[in-house]
Amino acid sequence: FEYPSIELQNELRQTAEAIVTPGKGILAVDEANPAIGKLLAAVGLDNTADNRRRYRQLLFTADDKLSENISAVILFDETVYQNTDDGTPFIKVLQKKGIIPGIKVDRDVVPLFLSQDEYTTQGLDDLADRCAQYKRAGCRFAKWRCPLKIGENTPSPRAISDTAHILARYASICQSQGLVPIVEPDILLDGDHDIVRAQKVTEVVLAAVYKALSDHHVFLEGTLLKPNMVTPGQGSPKRSSPSEIALATVTALRRSVPAAVPGITFLSGGQSEEEATANLNAVNKTGLYSPWALTFSYGRALQASVWRAWAGKQENVGKAQAELLKRAKANGLASQGKYEE
Ligand code: 13P
Repeated sequence: FEYPSIELQNELRQTAEAIVTPGKGILAVDEANPAIGKLLAAVGLDNTADNRRRYRQLLFTADDKLSENISAVILFDETVYQNTDDGTPFIKVLQKKGIIPGIKVDRDVVPLFLSQDEYTTQGLDDLADRCAQYKRAGCRFAKWRCPLKIGENTPSPRAISDTAHILARYASICQSQGLVPIVEPDILLDGDHDIVRAQKVTEVVLAAVYKALSDHHVFLEGTLLKPNMVTPGQGSPKRSSPSEIALATVTALRRSVPAAVPGITFLSGGQSEEEATANLNAVNKTGLYSPWALTFSYGRALQASVWRAWAGKQENVGKAQAELLKRAKANGLASQGKYEE
């Protein structure tokens, strides 16, 4: 049994800790082309590389104050190599703001054969080479998402162990190339289950994930966890308050996430912008001891009002950037339990 070299441990730990600096979180802009295509279509634009670039340029060239609440950005492959209108690489724009660039490295899901509508995630085969290339391009961390569905008989033991194994292999490969792995087991909001079931499933999945990370000798101080919050299913007639969601979430995490992990950066996963902020704020106000930072890694919950304000028009860029700063600030406060509606 071996540990990574002390130099590698220090590098990974410093990056992970910098991402969860108090009051800061992650902006997830790693929508794959079909996903951003839908957003572009909604504002009347074609899904071209240049339109995707123009939208992301809007985000990355927002006022420097963005870095007061955004420590890191998750990019999609294409975006790593794109430039602003004046030819400056996006990576450079982010670095100049003190924002750490990262990269989504999973290659999305395919059906798990003979399962009840479950999936497995692809992308491990050439991952070490891709990580090395992204590291050279300036990325310092990676993200890999494995979705799991709650149903009558799901997530199945097979889907849980597959997820845990894949996330552990991914995390190990990232660390071998000097990238901090953000480990994302995403238990989806879909379904009519109640919050108690969501909590139990979250505990079981996280316990399996951390057992696998241990089996693969992953250096936990150099990782981050990106989990779902524990909420009732979207179709459940029973709604929960932010404080109920916070209690279920922090209880599940305390039962399953080792204290060595420096931070937990929640996904928003279909919550509205307001819900995601109110719930994060409540998560930081439970009064339960938590050894990790509890912050955000939001995609939709940081961008919905940006898209609305932009509406695909050049003249709205400033207004849209102001919306981004507003959401970033609100979530930065929520990550410290200081947000007031
Ligand atoms: P959402 O916050 O929109 O769920 O996106 C975050 C993410 O990166 C999902 O993988």
